[in-house]
Amino acid sequence: MQVTFFGTGYVGLVQAAVLAEAGHHVICVDIDARKVEGLKQGHVPIYEPGLERLVKENSAAGRLVFTTDAAEGIEHGTLQFIAVGTPPDEDGSADIKYVLGVADQIAANMADHKIVVVKSTVPVGTSHKVKATMKARLAERNRPDLTFDVASNPEFLKEGAAVADCSKPDRIIVGVESEAAEKVLRELYAPFSRNHEKIISMDIRSAELTKYAANCMLATKISFINEIANLAELLGADIEKIRLGIGSDPRIGYQFIYPGVGYGGSCFPKDVQALIRTADEVGFDATVMKSVERRNNLQKRFLFDKILQHFGGDIAGKTFAMWGLAFKPNTDDMREAPSRVLMEALWAAKAKVRAYDPKAMDECRRIYGEVDGLELCETQEEALEGADALLLVTEWKSFFAPDFGQLKRMLKEPVIFDGRNVFDPVVTSRQGITLYGVGRGLAE
Ligand code: UGA
Repeated sequence: MQVTFFGTGYVGLVQAAVLAEAGHHVICVDIDARKVEGLKQGHVPIYEPGLERLVKENSAAGRLVFTTDAAEGIEHGTLQFIAVGTPPDEDGSADIKYVLGVADQIAANMADHKIVVVKSTVPVGTSHKVKATMKARLAERNRPDLTFDVASNPEFLKEGAAVADCSKPDRIIVGVESEAAEKVLRELYAPFSRNHEKIISMDIRSAELTKYAANCMLATKISFINEIANLAELLGADIEKIRLGIGSDPRIGYQFIYPGVGYGGSCFPKDVQALIRTADEVGFDATVMKSVERRNNLQKRFLFDKILQHFGGDIAGKTFAMWGLAFKPNTDDMREAPSRVLMEALWAAKAKVRAYDPKAMDECRRIYGEVDGLELCETQEEALEGADALLLVTEWKSFFAPDFGQLKRMLKEPVIFDGRNVFDPVVTSRQGITLYGVGRGLAE
């Protein structure tokens, strides 16, 4: 099938490449000429396992084309996917101006029937705004003969596993208003729905809300377990035991109940905020989501408070080794990362950071540049040199089994603040290391 994607961000690029791999002919349009030039040479601007290979191979096979020319893309695709960004504006609502801009462009240039599919995460009602925008433009062009369908097809991929998630989706949500559009989308996704039916079709508004409901549910699980972790600590219980104890109930499940330093990334914080705003707009007080956000903001300061407590309230002049900068492992993304809140709090308290992350060093350099108080180290061991304590913020695999002897020799004081409960308190205590975890009252 002929498909066009507007926006080569995480969602657009991954989905486009995966559709091309399944045999569809995909054109990706992006306004960023440098990015498009790079993609044409096979340079993928994000770190995502498997993506570069897909981009290179499908480009070489002629099934995946990159361009800045919107008209070319509009002419090509029966399906026009909108996958541009929806950054939060000042009050936290998702800004849909780019989405509507693309809709307008499609209507301004189209010459035959199009199915316009909104892939970006957008507030409920946006697809209908897309429709209104296109209608207005077609009326202005005086082309009432040109018809189109609008559909909502939210994305559920996770960073770091985006290609795998997209290639083997749990479900494909298709929000449609016409049987004809549903039929085309079913055909498009047929290669991904072979073993058992993955496509769940529904009305457009429900599809739009499904996306927010999914992310907000997951964010709720995280804030919930973080709340219990804090409580466990005060009560002298171990959250890691409790996690296993409740996860074994299939109604709860083991996933997304790992306590830590709070959720980050480009999705959960933004989507929780956007849902709160959407609720406000219809006069509804989303009390659960507000609490989820509040707990998360507190949680991001969790390690800092522990550090202050340990050092008697004064950390001026101290140096901390920080392992992990990315908001989670297997990505170089630092958007809304807990590491940033922690580093900034440490700097404000006049402490220094020696940081290491397997993938996010360049991103950290891009965000902070040359900052007094930040040294980026080549290896995780180098970060320990002369530091007063170790802070573990992201659970990269390479951090799981350090040489504790070496660690003790390199740190000024044998103390670890483990923001992801990676270390076993029995092991560290045997090594003579003081370990602060999240919600492990008994361990201290
Ligand atoms: C999330 C969702 O998981 C995807 O399904 C969704 O498609 C995506 O947002 C999106 O809307 O685009 P992502 O932001 O890539 O994906 O990251 P997650 O793996 O969900 O992790 C989010 C945050 O939660 C991370 O900071 C992670 O460390 C934290 N987390 C996760 C915990 O603190 N505890 C857990 O048990 C799980």
